[in-house]
Amino acid sequence: MRFFIDTANLDQIKEAHDLGILDGVTTNPSLMAKEGIKGQDAIMQHYRDICAIVDGPVSAEVISTDFEGMVAEGKKLAAIHDNIVVKIPMIKDGIKAIKWFTDNGIQTNCTLVFSAGQAILAAKAGATMVSPFIGRIDDSSWDGVKLIEQIVNIYNAQGFMTEVLAASIRSPLHIVRCAEVGADICTCPLSSITGLLKHPLTDLGLAQFMADAKNL
Ligand code: G3P
Repeated sequence: MRFFIDTANLDQIKEAHDLGILDGVTTNPSLMAKEGIKGQDAIMQHYRDICAIVDGPVSAEVISTDFEGMVAEGKKLAAIHDNIVVKIPMIKDGIKAIKWFTDNGIQTNCTLVFSAGQAILAAKAGATMVSPFIGRIDDSSWDGVKLIEQIVNIYNAQGFMTEVLAASIRSPLHIVRCAEVGADICTCPLSSITGLLKHPLTDLGLAQFMADAKNL
């Protein structure tokens, strides 16, 4: 399973990259706004800055919601760097846009996916990646990881090449469960990635080793 970081914060992207386990980045308009990025030029520059840190897919989301707008915007985003993946919302015009990008050799990430049916449509349109939002599904008292498992099974049964990118990850346990059910990629906040490091027995064991090392 590949690890992406789900943020537009350059310091956090660098920190995850320095761990040596980072495979890519996902952003969205909310994450960009959180960093105070304003205006077209600043947005484009920010994606360039992210691509300079990470040598892997960087999802950049369109803001338009009509076919022509998404295609025009996505073409500009894709021209920034070979690693840019155009992120398109799961709406009717979005499916048409994903098909257009597929036919024109541009990678896409279909976002805001909450059902297996939506994931099938995204794959039929040729999306490179599909992003089910598992944390938001859990927030509605449904089981987000079950949806990942269902989509993985459908894609395997049908031979779809679209990668399952588990998004809206809220905890290290989400990452572990997504790995168990065969997600291709998890995109996570830095806290969930570093949370994987934690175990009290590791801390206790290390403290004991360090104490005993003084007697060597
Ligand atoms: O990748 C999608 C993600 O940014 C949404 O996360 O926590 O806002 O549901 P969240």
